[in-house]
Amino acid sequence: MAKTIAIVGAGWGDEGKGAVVSDLAREAQGVGRFQGGNNAGHTLYDSQGRKVVVNIAPSGVIYPHVQNIIGNGCVIDLEVLDHNLKDLINDPKLLISDGAHLIFDYHKQLDQARENSSAKIGTTKRGTGPAYADKINRLGIRASLLRRPKDLEEQIREAANLKNEELELWDSAGTINADILITKIRPLVEKYRGLVADASLFLDKFIKAGNRFIFEGAQGALLDIDHGTYPHVTSSSTTVAGLLAGAGLGLKSIDVAVGVAKLYCSRVGEGSFPTEGESYGNIKNLTRDTAPKLTLDEKIVVYGGIRAHPDYNCLALRLIQEQGDEFGATTGRMRRTGWLDIVALKKAIRVNGLDWLVGTRIDTLDRIGTVKVCTHYQNKETGEFSYDFPGEELELEQMVPQYFEFPGWMSTTGVRAFDRLPRNAQDYLSAIEGLTGVKFAGIRNGPRQGDYIQRTNLWRL
Ligand code: IMP
Repeated sequence: MAKTIAIVGAGWGDEGKGAVVSDLAREAQGVGRFQGGNNAGHTLYDSQGRKVVVNIAPSGVIYPHVQNIIGNGCVIDLEVLDHNLKDLINDPKLLISDGAHLIFDYHKQLDQARENSSAKIGTTKRGTGPAYADKINRLGIRASLLRRPKDLEEQIREAANLKNEELELWDSAGTINADILITKIRPLVEKYRGLVADASLFLDKFIKAGNRFIFEGAQGALLDIDHGTYPHVTSSSTTVAGLLAGAGLGLKSIDVAVGVAKLYCSRVGEGSFPTEGESYGNIKNLTRDTAPKLTLDEKIVVYGGIRAHPDYNCLALRLIQEQGDEFGATTGRMRRTGWLDIVALKKAIRVNGLDWLVGTRIDTLDRIGTVKVCTHYQNKETGEFSYDFPGEELELEQMVPQYFEFPGWMSTTGVRAFDRLPRNAQDYLSAIEGLTGVKFAGIRNGPRQGDYIQRTNLWRL
């Protein structure tokens, strides 16, 4: 029987990991976040059906029975953590690793300043990148200092001096006033200092005592600092190995590795995205309020599966964006959408060593007349075919996706058994299993808790 499960993103983030984790957490005793910061956004529904968005708090905080951990691999903005916890029905059980790093205002200012420059990455501007840079540069401030407020304040003052020099290098980034910053965070330091502990030690005992524990990933394999589309990546290791390092546990601590794969692709921010619709236009700065809606005539092209239409790809992917309500949970930015990319998914499977997949949002593909899957790429310069995701973003930009087409289906909503799905949807899912060699443990067919078709109970493996 599995006791520990890792749930990681198999794409560019936003695969719906939070919903998968919160479903599994009903039968678990613990959930932890081990990388990233509040650049993530996990949408959950509590026991009263209320929508809860968490950014740095683990998804288990919606349950009173779950012990939540924020591990040493994370970067924490205490203001956001406080915000995440304040509307919960119950007081969550939470432990913060003494080795986690803290995000301060100057990190956010630096993140913002870089985004205003030509070196823009399309970040979430939450200060995670600069906080990780400080960590690697051995200039970071760790959560352990929350237990020694005087030392913490001294280190913030030292850091502010240094950061003001750095901020001056960027145009209009402003400066930081250490006194204001310290006064602002003092109540939060008081509030959270008692939760700081050696999370690795705690977790080791917790798991050995037989508790079921979920390692909750953030972002996705294609945003990984090493394995993603560098430099358009996040600043942490988003893979199973990253979770272990960020928890302070060894290889054998994870029984089952599960990748959450949205059944089409999406990406926010800059960076290569092979299966994105051609002539999709620059939508990166649109939001729910400014995004144009498809006209009825345009929808008819997609419903009819008229792939001979020159704009079929573009229109279908826009409709997928609309049907999936694809806007960032953290920033509200419109997500770019693309067809499922098997080449990218195989890379996510490899770098994580995935045992299972959970496919998400099959319902978003409902009524799309022809559904495409990218099986391989063709290099537009050399004409060669490639079945492997290149490590270099420049190389990736040379790749033209090659598609296999599937006839669409009407509705998957409300279905609770795999064999009750429309035949064409079943064929689509079986083909993905065949192409990747990894089975679906379940399929999510909606945004809400319970919108799930279980094929394998991961806790009973
Ligand atoms: P950062 O993590 O804020 O530095 O952003 C770096 C890149 O990762 C940008 O392209 C972001 O849009 C992307 N990113 C970071 N977190 C998430 C997430 O939770 N979902 C999707 N994309 C993310």
